[in-house]
Order: sequence, then structure tokens, then C-alpha cells
Amino acid sequence: MQFDQFAGNYEQVLDRTVAASGENSAYFAEYKARYLSRVLSPAFSGKALDFGCGVGLLSRFLNKCLPGLRVDGFDVSHDSISRIDDNLKSQGHFTSTAADLGDDYRLIVVANVMHHILPRERQQVVQELAERLMPGGILAIFEHNSSNPVTRWVVNHCPFDEDAILLPAAEASAYLHHAKLRVMRRDYIVFMPRFLAWLRPLEPWLAWLPLGAQYAILAGKCA
Ligand SMILES: C[S@@+](CC[C@H](N)C(=O)[O-])C[C@H]1O[C@@H](n2cnc3c(N)ncnc32)[C@H](O)[C@@H]1O
Repeated sequence: MQFDQFAGNYEQVLDRTVAASGENSAYFAEYKARYLSRVLSPAFSGKALDFGCGVGLLSRFLNKCLPGLRVDGFDVSHDSISRIDDNLKSQGHFTSTAADLGDDYRLIVVANVMHHILPRERQQVVQELAERLMPGGILAIFEHNSSNPVTRWVVNHCPFDEDAILLPAAEASAYLHHAKLRVMRRDYIVFMPRFLAWLRPLEPWLAWLPLGAQYAILAGKCA
């Protein structure tokens, strides 16, 4: 709920924090949605949950890049949920009440949320999300890569990351494994700052290299 204080200017604060990359908060949100569209298929459809949706930045791009999805959102920050725009609310259910959520999601996305959850609570959160997946559903975790020094610098200077405890990809994978989800892929993402944008088409070939600013892990529930 610490995010209540940032709900009014979340995007502006994030824009300032990532400015050194030459990009803004929308770039990083759209990157994740485009990544999912690429690895799952732009035609991937069904119910999706943006867990820890904040003010809905990623949800907007999920709707744009995966138009077959119906995106719901959940966040513990009431103020963030209250700022979700009408267009998103007309297409999905956005709430701070876990009991309002379904248990038949084909895709659940957890983007830059886990590092705000206490380590001792993380397994339980992943377990509960696994239970909200339909058989064959996919849980996608995006996180900061703590091996990347630039990422660590950004987190250390981000006003809403004061509580952040970063988790390596192996830790996130272990939570998924213990929740009986099968890890399907683990990719490092976001390598090139804007001044190297011409090299970005190479990024999918660098997914094995633990130097990306962030990582993505997709895990599936047995059908
Ligand atoms: C850095 S923001 C990321 C927002 C969004 N996912 C994005 O990528 O733009 C982290 C969000 O996680 C939310 N959050 C933190 N702990 C949570 C929890 N236990 N359950 C749900 N949301 C949580 C915060 O309120 C905040 O909105």
C-alpha cells in the first residue's frame, strides 16, 4: 500500500528514474507486452490477470499487443486502482479485493511486483496465483535483473523502490517449481539503451545472457 502515495504521479516518477536509458515508463511496459505477444503469439486469447497492476500502465499495452485478451487487474494499492482509466475498466475488472478475482485465468502477469513482497511471503503469493490459473494456463513473472549494475543503480535511486529486495531468476524459478508449475522459458530482456536502439532487433538472440536489465520467466500449469 506504500504505492498509494505514488498513485497520482507513478508514471512521472518512473519516467525520471529510467531517463538515463533514453526511454520512458511506457517503453518498458510496452516492451513486456510485446515480448509476451512474441513468445505466446499475438493471437493468444482468453482471460488474463495483471497482478500488481498499479495504475494500469502494463494492462493498457496488454490490451494493445494481445487484443484477444480480456485483462483484469489486482493491486493492494487502492489509490492506484482508483486511477485505472475508464477504457480499461470497461474491458476488465480492476480491484483491490482478491475475492473478486477468478480462478480461470489463461495468463497471469506479475511485472516488477515480487521485489516488493517480503521474501517469506513470496512462495505463498505464487502458490495462490498458480491456483487462479486454468489448466494449461501460464504465469509470467517479470523482474529486475540484480546482476546488472545499471539496474541496481536505477532501483537504488527509485523513490518507490525503497522497500525493494531484488530476487535472482533462480529464486523466482524455485517459487514456480514449488507451486507445481513447469518453467517453459527464462529470458533476459531489455539490453539496449535508446542510443543503441538500432541493435534492438538482436535482443531476442541475447535472451540467454544474464546482462539484460530485466528477466522474464513463463511457467505453465498442467493441462
Ligand atoms: C513497481 S509497481 C509495478 C506496477 C505494474 N505491474 C507495472 O509493471 O507497471 C509494483 C506494484 O505492485 C503492487 N504490489 C506490491 N505488493 C503487492 C501484493 N502483495 N499484491 C499485489 N500487488 C502488490 C504495488 O502496489 C505496485 O502497484
